[in-house]
Amino acid sequence: RPRVLSGIQPTADSFHLGNYLGAVRNWVALQETHDAFYCVVDLHAITAGHDPVVLRRRTRVAAAQLLAVGLDPERCTLFVQSQVPEHAQLAWVLDCLTGFGEASRMTQFKDKSAKQGAERASVGLFVYPILQAADILLYQADAVPVGEDQRQHLELTRDLAQRFNNLFGATFTVPEAYIVRDTAKITDLQDPSIKMSKSASSPAGIIELLDEPAKSAKKIKSAVTDTGREIYYDPEQKPGLSNLLTIYCALTGRAIDELVEAYAGKGYGDLKKDLAEVLTEFARPIRERTHLYLDDPAQLDKVLAAGGERARAVASTTLRTVYDRIGFLAPA
Ligand code: TYM
Repeated sequence: RPRVLSGIQPTADSFHLGNYLGAVRNWVALQETHDAFYCVVDLHAITAGHDPVVLRRRTRVAAAQLLAVGLDPERCTLFVQSQVPEHAQLAWVLDCLTGFGEASRMTQFKDKSAKQGAERASVGLFVYPILQAADILLYQADAVPVGEDQRQHLELTRDLAQRFNNLFGATFTVPEAYIVRDTAKITDLQDPSIKMSKSASSPAGIIELLDEPAKSAKKIKSAVTDTGREIYYDPEQKPGLSNLLTIYCALTGRAIDELVEAYAGKGYGDLKKDLAEVLTEFARPIRERTHLYLDDPAQLDKVLAAGGERARAVASTTLRTVYDRIGFLAPA
C-alpha cells in the first residue's frame, strides 16, 4: 500500500470547517486505501508562545476529534509528534541542508513573522516548515493530504528530500501533495477573500466543529453573500455563495449542478437555512463522540501511546539510515 502522512496543530479548542473539509476528511478516506500515519503536531504548536495546561488539553481535544470524525486506530497510525523524538532529530539534519534565504521565502513565515514583529518571532517559527519536512520524510510518505495553504511547505519538503538523496544517496521518498481541489481552500464566512483560519478569521467568519450547533447555524445564516439573488457557482463573481455551495456539496455528497437545480427560483436565505441544518446534523454526533473520548483521557492517552510506538518503529529506521549516511558513528 502506498503511504500517507499528515499532521494538524493543536492550537485551538476545536478544528474548524476548513481543517475538516480541506484535510481531515480526506485522512479518513485514505486510511482505507493507504498505509496512513496521522499526527497531532504539538512541537509545531509552541512556536509562538503557549500555556502548557492549554497545550496538553488541546492535544487531547485534537486527538479525540480525529477519532470522532472516523480515524480508526486499527486502520491508521494516530500519534502525537513529541512522543516520537526522531521528528526533532531529523529536523536538525534538514535544518543544516536548508538555505537561510530558502527558509526566508516561506510565505507563512513571512506573514506570521510580520504580524508578530521580526524581533519577537521565534527561530522555531522560522524552521517550522523544516520540521514539517522531517515529519513527512521520516515515514517515507508517498502523499501528504493537506489544504492549499500547505503547498509551498510541500515543495520545500520535496526539495529537501531530493537534495539529501543527491548528496548522500537515495534515502527518502519524494512525496506528492494530495490536495483535493474542490475543498482545498474553504473561505472565511465574513470575508471570502481570505481562507477560514484560526489566526485570521473573526469569530463570525469561522465554523468550529465543536461549537454549539445553534451558534454554527447562526454563523451560516449571517454569512456574507454576494449581490444578486440567483444561486449558481462562480467563485470569481460570487465567492461567498460559492463557498457555501462548496461546503454544502462536501457535507452532503451532492453535486453542485444538482444543488443549483434544486435551488432554482429560491433565494440565498433558503439555501442558508438548509445548509445550517445540514451542518448542525453533521457536527452534532462529532461533538458528542469527541466528548465521550475526552471523558476517558487515560484510554485516549493509551491509544496515542500505542500509535506513537508504531510510528517510532518506522521513524527510527529512517533516522538510523540518515545518521549512517551523513557519517555519524553508530550508537553505542
Ligand atoms: P494546520 O494545523 O494549520 O491545518 C491542518 C490542515 O487543515 C488545512 N486547512 C484548510 N484547508 C482548506 N481550507 C482552509 N481554510 C484550511 N485551513 C486549514 C491545512 O492545509 C492542513 O492540511 N503545517 C501544518 C501542520 C503540519 C503538517 C505536517 C501537515 C505539520 N507537519 C506534516 C502535513 C504533513 C499546519 O499548520 O496545519
